[in-house]
Amino acid sequence: MKYLAPSILSADFSRLYDEIKEVEEAGADIIHLDVMDGRYVPNITIGPPVIESLRSITHLPFDAHLMIVEPEKHIDAFIKAGVNMVSFHMDATIHAHRLVDYIKSNGVKAGVVLNPATPVNTLEEIIYYIDYVLIMSVNPGFGGQKFIPQTANKITKLKELISKVEREDILIEIDGGINEENISLLSNLGVNIFVAGNSIFKAKDKKEAVKKLKEKMKE
Ligand code: DX5
Ligand code: ZN
Repeated sequence: MKYLAPSILSADFSRLYDEIKEVEEAGADIIHLDVMDGRYVPNITIGPPVIESLRSITHLPFDAHLMIVEPEKHIDAFIKAGVNMVSFHMDATIHAHRLVDYIKSNGVKAGVVLNPATPVNTLEEIIYYIDYVLIMSVNPGFGGQKFIPQTANKITKLKELISKVEREDILIEIDGGINEENISLLSNLGVNIFVAGNSIFKAKDKKEAVKKLKEKMKE
């Protein structure tokens, strides 16, 4: 399956209701929520209270991407806020397996994130337990950065690992610099979930941008 996940990091924060409704009506599949703490990454964004407020305005699944240190300390607040999927960076916690287990025991999908310089083989022991892998195709921290082409090599390596452990149900998500030019290629390589911030929320016509990206991700 293929899903388009607009990242509201690039939206107008004073108009989040309208921005989310607009992409929902255009056919967005998932809402991607970038959570940054100013420690794991240099930037600070939103947290559980904002997510909780947004929860009632849409039925779309919420995918929280936690760019925070010690995510285990805050996981209950995100679950309570109503996220459906939550991912954390492998090097942000000491006990990744315990955290994955905890997330899943609460009925939430658990994902782990690879930074551009983190190899796929770091997932060898956790892969059995997770629901999805998020490949960062930019360095985390900011929207609107340029796609790093070498990160696409990880998709094939990840697919190999997934088939080796016979967990073809694991979804592959990609995040950073996704646009109309690169989405088809990434889709052909096997990506399932495409995060897009600037290419949707900074577009002149957001609905048109969603439709174009969706068409191309299916090509
Ligand atoms: C970066 C975030 C991304 C980012 C995507 O740290 O994880 O989700 O906002 O935005 P674009 O598509 O503009 O790169
Ligand atoms: Zn993200």
